Amino acid sequence: MTSEAAITFNQVHMAFSGHTILRELQFNIDKGAFVGVIGPNGAGKTTLIRLILGLIRPSSGTVHVFGSPVRRGKRQIGYVPQSFVADPDMPLRARDLVGLGLDGERWGFAFPNHARQQRIQDMLDRVGATRYADEPVGTLSGGERQRLLIAQALLTHPKILLLDEPLSNLDIHSGHEIIQLVAEIAHDSHVTVMFVAHDMNPLLGVMDQVLYLAQGRAVVGSVDEVILPEVLTELYGQPVEVLRINGRILVFASGEMVPLTHSESIAHGHALA
Ligand SMILES: Nc1ncnc2c1ncn2[C@@H]1O[C@H](COP(=O)(O)OP(=O)(O)O)[C@@H](O)[C@H]1O
Ligand SMILES: [Mg+2]
Repeated sequence: MTSEAAITFNQVHMAFSGHTILRELQFNIDKGAFVGVIGPNGAGKTTLIRLILGLIRPSSGTVHVFGSPVRRGKRQIGYVPQSFVADPDMPLRARDLVGLGLDGERWGFAFPNHARQQRIQDMLDRVGATRYADEPVGTLSGGERQRLLIAQALLTHPKILLLDEPLSNLDIHSGHEIIQLVAEIAHDSHVTVMFVAHDMNPLLGVMDQVLYLAQGRAVVGSVDEVILPEVLTELYGQPVEVLRINGRILVFASGEMVPLTHSESIAHGHALA
């Protein structure tokens, strides 16, 4: 383990009821890296995130964060879930949703109220949510709500930010804005990011590394090192083809035109536009 590692997986094995989900995961995530976590549905992406958060423990092997074994609830990790659908009548304002990021913290309620409100306001500004800070969350768009969840996760100034499919309920334009926002914050504040997505294409311009999960195993490296037919064929255990077209990358099982990880745009036939 080097001192540069933000996250280290050492021979991590994860099984549920005897069924193996992740096997022999062995990798380092460098401090400050923006890592895209890519893989088909059910590959174990959320399980990987839960291991880093300390919500579950590996069946064997170890997960270290900044050189120490993970401990549940440590402030140094921020977590952003999928955007959610909210009832328009839900009586929760945008700034209250962000403020939940301080609750449950040891010092959350002890924090003086004005300092607490200032910190929330600073974070609303940081994610570009000031305009709708006092609106009920149920009246906001998916992209607006996602900005609030990012602000909430960043409220305690974590050095690691984990995002689990934050684009899944967003249109392509909002998704692009969210990626740019996260990349900018990560760069400015030296935050290490693990960004889970089922399509790597929107992340190509910002990610330093890709962590590709399939068949319970992972390969980590630059896109040019990992997204190769020989590497992915080995990972999937079946022949895989990689097609690069118009700056997009499509990964196919040989002979099939269904991408192994795919986006809505491809599913709807816009991939060649
Ligand atoms: N707590 C659990 N108990 C049993 N099986 C689980 C549990 N969590 C995840 N799984 C299984 O592990 C596999 C990977 O799930 P998940 O990590 O959610 O994949 P992904 O996020 O890549 O879609 C799935 O087959 C899922 O059913
Ligand atoms: Mg998942």
